[in-house]
Amino acid sequence: MAEGQQDAGAGPIGVLDSGVGGLSVLRQLRDLLPAEDLEYVADQAHVPYALRQADEVRRFATGITRFLLARRAKLIVLACNTASVAALAPLRRAFPGTPFVGMDPAVKPAAASTRTGKIGVLATTGTFRSERYAHLLREFALGIEVVTCPCPGLVELIEGGQADTAEAAALLRSFIEPMVRQGVDTLVLGCTHFPLAQAQIQAAAGPDVRLIDPSPAVARQARHLLTEHGLLLPPSATPGQVRLFSTAQPATRLSQMAAAILGLDPAPAQGLAWTGSDELALA
Ligand code: DGL
Repeated sequence: MAEGQQDAGAGPIGVLDSGVGGLSVLRQLRDLLPAEDLEYVADQAHVPYALRQADEVRRFATGITRFLLARRAKLIVLACNTASVAALAPLRRAFPGTPFVGMDPAVKPAAASTRTGKIGVLATTGTFRSERYAHLLREFALGIEVVTCPCPGLVELIEGGQADTAEAAALLRSFIEPMVRQGVDTLVLGCTHFPLAQAQIQAAAGPDVRLIDPSPAVARQARHLLTEHGLLLPPSATPGQVRLFSTAQPATRLSQMAAAILGLDPAPAQGLAWTGSDELALA
């Protein structure tokens, strides 16, 4: 049987991101699939991925995937747009027996629902310069004006637990007010960190701008793939476990953010160490 598919249904769902952003996806997975065990790796030793080259991000995502598969993950969710555009296709080729869910900026629903014909996309430089993003625009945004913003510094503030500060509010206004003045009526949250600042983004955009967070759709896709592969656990009175790992030492920052975002108390995170260019081990 292919790697990652032994004992159908028994293993956890593996989830990865550069940092705390993927917790916005983990929260949706937990709501939709409460019986499933979830294992989350935050590569906080390397955050932000935004400024790194695609091949480096691909190496990190491959190392984390190997770590999760060694822990018998039955499905991998790339809860990171930047890692998805860099690594999803190569990972599917490298691990053909494992179902993967990746993320794309939600250009399609935004383009379908805009009334002004102008949408904004907030994502990282890595996402914007990818062929995958160019393909999305060609496929779904013909005739639509797309205003983009790579939001420099925002991921770092959210990682530092500072989304709710005057500094973050000022930064968000500087990104978003010009987009709204250009007539954008829909904003795509194209980085998984950004739903963690959703209220602050909405405040900067004003009440008339619609925000699109793809994470509920990602959780539905995970459920769909588990069902299709016969890997979905039946409903259970016992909730699944959530296990957290961080490549940053100590891993307490991830624990604190997860406790706040997921309402887990306590939410201890284990430390991981990179032992080679794409090898991870428990620290
Ligand atoms: N959360 C990641 C994403 O969805 C990227 C953050 C980073 O730059 O590391 O793109």
